[in-house]
Amino acid sequence: MIVHKKNQLLGLDIGTYSIKIVEIEHRKKDKILKNIGIVHLRPGSLSPNGIKNPDYIKQAITGLLENLKIRNKKIAISLSGTSVIAKKISLLDKEDINLEDAIKREAEQFIPFDIEDVNLDYDIMATNYDESSEDMPRLEIMVVAAKKSLINNYVNLLQDIGLTPGIIDVDLFAMQNAFEFSAEGIAPDKCYILIDIGSETINTNVIKGGMSLFVRSSLLGGIQISKQIMNEFQIEFEDAEKIKLGIMKLEEEQNKKIRNIFKDIVKEWIDEINGNIEFIRRTYPGEEIERIFITGGSSRILGLKEILRAETRIEVEYIYPFKGLNIDKKIDPAYLEYISNQATVAVGLALRSIGDK
Ligand SMILES: Nc1ncnc2c1ncn2[C@@H]1O[C@H](COP(=O)(O)OP(=O)(O)OP(=O)(O)O)[C@@H](O)[C@H]1O
Ligand SMILES: [Mg+2]
Repeated sequence: MIVHKKNQLLGLDIGTYSIKIVEIEHRKKDKILKNIGIVHLRPGSLSPNGIKNPDYIKQAITGLLENLKIRNKKIAISLSGTSVIAKKISLLDKEDINLEDAIKREAEQFIPFDIEDVNLDYDIMATNYDESSEDMPRLEIMVVAAKKSLINNYVNLLQDIGLTPGIIDVDLFAMQNAFEFSAEGIAPDKCYILIDIGSETINTNVIKGGMSLFVRSSLLGGIQISKQIMNEFQIEFEDAEKIKLGIMKLEEEQNKKIRNIFKDIVKEWIDEINGNIEFIRRTYPGEEIERIFITGGSSRILGLKEILRAETRIEVEYIYPFKGLNIDKKIDPAYLEYISNQATVAVGLALRSIGDK
């Protein structure tokens, strides 16, 4: 699809650990990765329930845009964490149904906030006829609820630094967008589990034929390991992070403690992932789970891919979000390799354009 320049958007992923920015030029015949960058945040600047230090976040984004010499002011951002909830529901398509009201009623059941305080968005994904539907079609609907106050906070913050949010997406679906653009050899009749293991959230999206079967966000992630190291050694976050990433060397006795911390927390993640797999198998008994794709900074933990494969007995691969893009020659391939796990959501956002869906 040709996307006019004025409808092209920068992808901006504001995570709790790092901000990533991606600029893609959508041309007639191809898409070019023009710019990409990341900046790490001080811990606590952002939490899964919102922005804690807006001035600092503004500075971080402005600095990144200046460094990369990016001029486009229109952006696509995504939400994640506890103030945005995505859930698939199913409703009988009765003749007299008022869909909006029915969705609102359903949403009230699973949204922990007042329904008047959230923006509700929905997408009808499929219409099924099954035994339980008594000849009435059953609609499969993805409902996304985001706290209005959270959206306002983001929009205000971005407008303060001269940016215009053209699209507000959700991490879970931006990851799916990047995956669907980049993955090769994907069978339309099989299930794939996409998992973004970030700092404070693990986002899981199970897809088949371009549709989500199941989504879930859990408050788990790499920060658990950092915090545990801080506690164990009574040190600050930055030092814990250095130890975690292997930059600061330790005695063997201490290394043993670190290995155990990794092991315990990764086990928690595997339990969560296996719980989700069990749920999928129970809910969709006929479906074949073909592969797991992981991404996010914490998916880089050494050996994680192998452990996940052994514990789930499903093949595991990394999402490589740049496949399918032409790369501007000013971008260093080694840098791309380094950033690939953290860039997935931002690539998924930069692939979008105003009016695309
Ligand atoms: N090489 C590595 N090995 C292990 N952990 C890593 C590595 N590189 C980054 N991490 C961890 O990845 C996490 C950051 O990942 P990412 O940038 O994807 O998070 P985020 O998008 O900012 O967070 P979230 O989406 O959860 O808000 C941190 O916990 C960091 O310590
Ligand atoms: Mg993230």
